[in-house]
Parts: sequence; structure tokens; C-alpha cells
Amino acid sequence: MPEKDDTKKEKNFYVNVQQKNEAFFLKGLNSMDWGMKNRMSGIFNPETGKTVMLAIDHGYFQGPTTGLERVDVTIVPLLQWTDTLMLTRGILRSVIPADYGKGIVLRASGGPSILKELSNENIAVDIEDAIRLNAAAMAVQVFIGGEFETQSVHNMTRLVDMGNRYGIATLAVTAVGKQIERDVRYIRLACRICAELGATYVKTYYVPEDFDTVTSSCPVPIVIAGGKKIPELDALKLAYNAIQQGAAGVDMGRNIFQAESPVAMLQAIRKVVHEGLEPEKAYDFYMTSKNGNR
Ligand code: R5P
Repeated sequence: MPEKDDTKKEKNFYVNVQQKNEAFFLKGLNSMDWGMKNRMSGIFNPETGKTVMLAIDHGYFQGPTTGLERVDVTIVPLLQWTDTLMLTRGILRSVIPADYGKGIVLRASGGPSILKELSNENIAVDIEDAIRLNAAAMAVQVFIGGEFETQSVHNMTRLVDMGNRYGIATLAVTAVGKQIERDVRYIRLACRICAELGATYVKTYYVPEDFDTVTSSCPVPIVIAGGKKIPELDALKLAYNAIQQGAAGVDMGRNIFQAESPVAMLQAIRKVVHEGLEPEKAYDFYMTSKNGNR
């Protein structure tokens, strides 16, 4: 039996206070269910609307990538400065402490290694395992214009269907084969197709020309890929320019964990993404903090 409500305090129904009905902080996702929004709030910082995703999933097709030979040694100490991790279930289960409290973006496609045609991927995780791992999102490569375009789009739409059923987001990663030019028209096309077909958010390459037309014509958030290692100042400029042109964050791997000081680089990237710090100032911060964090 419930206890009797015998408190002496008078009830207050706040009849003159209108209930708030605020839109969700990420664009295009207001119609999603509560669980999906909650999981996306574990990937993106609700205060800034941005994210610094640390991508460490490279091993799913290229094995022990430089900087990821021992994830327990090199990556675990960085976790406190990440907003989320993008990784495979193998590394998640074997190495990442289960008290990591932020959203997990689970690599959900795979198949071919660097020894084969990379675009020939399939879905590589069951939705039940994604739920068991408490994934916030599942990441899938989409090869628009590639040899296995339809197959990769189908991988994405199946993950979207499964993810929507359980409130787990789908991150579509626009992947470009060797034969396709990464210009703004292509990036716009690829991002829009992913969003139209249900991706919760999209990862793509930054292109200097008219990138704001990519973010404005994509109805859901875009995060930019880091790509191969470039000088630290250039990586900070890349992040800054993308954010200024409407990106909602970065999904960066090698430019962080292959930096001379990954801790300092991650902190500098955070300043660019979350505080809008200009790249030259972020680079000064990097240089200063690097000596203490090598
Ligand atoms: C690329 O599509 C894969 O997901 C990569 O393994 C990774 O996310 C790329 O990160 P980065 O290019 O910043 O090293």
C-alpha cells in the first residue's frame, strides 16, 4: 500500500506557469524519440551543441595503426578529454574501462581489409550486441558513387531501421573511393543522400570551397573527418574552418593520437570546437601545454 500523502505542505500546481516545450539542441532531430535524443546528448555537449569525437576504429580494416598499437597505453589516458569514442566492439570490450560515462559510437560495418576492395563492406554487428554495449550510435561507411554504392547504402538504411527501433543513432560516414574527386558538389550530394535516407548524423570530409553549403543543405548535424596526419596547426585550422562553416564537431583520429603530444592536441582541438578559439591561439596553447604532457 502506498503511504498516505499526509504532508502539511500545501499543494502547488503552478497553474500560471506554462510548461516549457523547447526544441532539441541538435538540428533536424526534434522528432526523434527521447532515448535517441538522450543518447545524442551523450555524444554532443548540450551546452555548446558540438562534439570532439576521438576516432580509434582504424584497426577494423588496417590492424594496429601507428598510435593504436596499444590502446590501453596510448588512448585510455586521453578519455577524460573526449566527448565520445568511435571504436570497434573488440577494442571497447577488451580495453576501454566500463565506467567511461560518455556516448559510445560503435563501428558497425566492416569486412574487407586494406588488402582488398574497401568499399565491399557489410553490417558487422548485431543490434542486440550494440544494445548490450550501451552504444549511443552505430557508424557505417557509405560509398556514394563507389562500386558497392547500393550495398553500402543498404547497410546504412538497415542500421537506421534497427537503430530507430531501439533509439540508437546511426552515423553515416561518407567514404570516398580513389576514383572519385572530393569536391564540394560530391560532398554535398553524399551528405544529403545519407540524411535523406535516415542517418541521424553524418561524418564527411572538409573541403575549403563553400563548405557552408554542405552544412546548410544537410538537415542533420555534420562532423568532419580528420584524415591523415598533417601539421598540428593545419589540423587546428581545419577544425576551426569547419566549425565556422556550420560543422557540429570533429571526428578525429590520427591528427590527435599521432600528434607529438596527443593530450595537448586533444585539449587544443576542444578549445577550437567548444570555445571557438582561433587556430593560431589554439596552437600556442598546444605548444605551451605539450611540454608538460609529452
Ligand atoms: C574512416 O572512415 C574510419 O572510420 C577511420 O578508421 C577513422 O575514423 C578515421 O579517422 P582519422 O582519419 O581522423 O584518422
